[in-house]
Amino acid sequence: MKLFAVFGNPIKHSKSPIIHQLFAKQTGIKQNYKRISVPIYNFKNEIFYFFKNGGVGANITSPFKIDAYKICHILTSRAKKSGAVNTIKMTKSGKILGDNTDGIGLLKDLQNIKFIQPKSKILIVGAGGATKGIIYPLIKFGCIITIVNRTYQNAKNIVEFFQTKYLNCLRLEDLFNNLINNKKYNLIINATSSGIQGNIPNIPSSIIKSNIFYYDLYYRDSLTPFLKWCYDLGGEKISDGIGMLVEQAAYSFCFWHGIMPDTKIVIKKIKNLINFNKISLKKD
Ligand code: ATR
Repeated sequence: MKLFAVFGNPIKHSKSPIIHQLFAKQTGIKQNYKRISVPIYNFKNEIFYFFKNGGVGANITSPFKIDAYKICHILTSRAKKSGAVNTIKMTKSGKILGDNTDGIGLLKDLQNIKFIQPKSKILIVGAGGATKGIIYPLIKFGCIITIVNRTYQNAKNIVEFFQTKYLNCLRLEDLFNNLINNKKYNLIINATSSGIQGNIPNIPSSIIKSNIFYYDLYYRDSLTPFLKWCYDLGGEKISDGIGMLVEQAAYSFCFWHGIMPDTKIVIKKIKNLINFNKISLKKD
């Protein structure tokens, strides 16, 4: 049976194996998909070991998406444009081919739940591999993006990487002024890894408004710390990253097998499965 895996740290709560199992069942494809926990400084060795021992393809998650970009011999244009890789496979000629399905998966989910429109003004909090991976499809869709991050230089590096007038960054302290000056965002995305430690990023609470959409790339069995914070302060339109997780997994599955699975039923199943602590989303 063909071997696939998801590499990350931490990884034990990853829902990717169950999602890929559901896709495999749905499409009649036989595959073995497992979680691999990678020590922080050992990513490259683990990947080479995996492919040497029969691995066919893999997903890469936090914090290795930029490392994954660096080890690929060939990149899809999506991966090239995002500077981060979340999906890899071994080609017939023994080369590692990297793709990035995060951005397209996020866009698909945001469209599914009607959180986005062309021309939406988006504030992304965080400037790591996850942020890099989602920017290109959002800009291509027609959005205008501002990044704010704990370490300003990391946000600046991303802006310099993309070089487009549709992307800029702010210092955290300037976010306060921006809000006072009534700069409006339609959608705020938490792309920090703060939720993994049960924390929220340090952003002003004045950012919370009932008519703004809040999306957390992170997910867990209950409401994420960021979404709970938004909700408690009056944010009503909130969503975690489960839908994105399934959508990006579907593009990865298609990258490996050439078949696009039906995501709607899988999103529903996964949400039921983890007993998602739902707050009904108020739609306009
Ligand atoms: P990922 O692949 O998930 O993006 P990453 O590359 O390690 O992981 O990036 C994590 C991002 O979350 C970074 O932007 C990090 O901020 P710094 O650039 O200052 O390191 C941000 N982050 C992590 N923990 C955070 C916290 N507690 N508060 C705010 N930002 C945090």
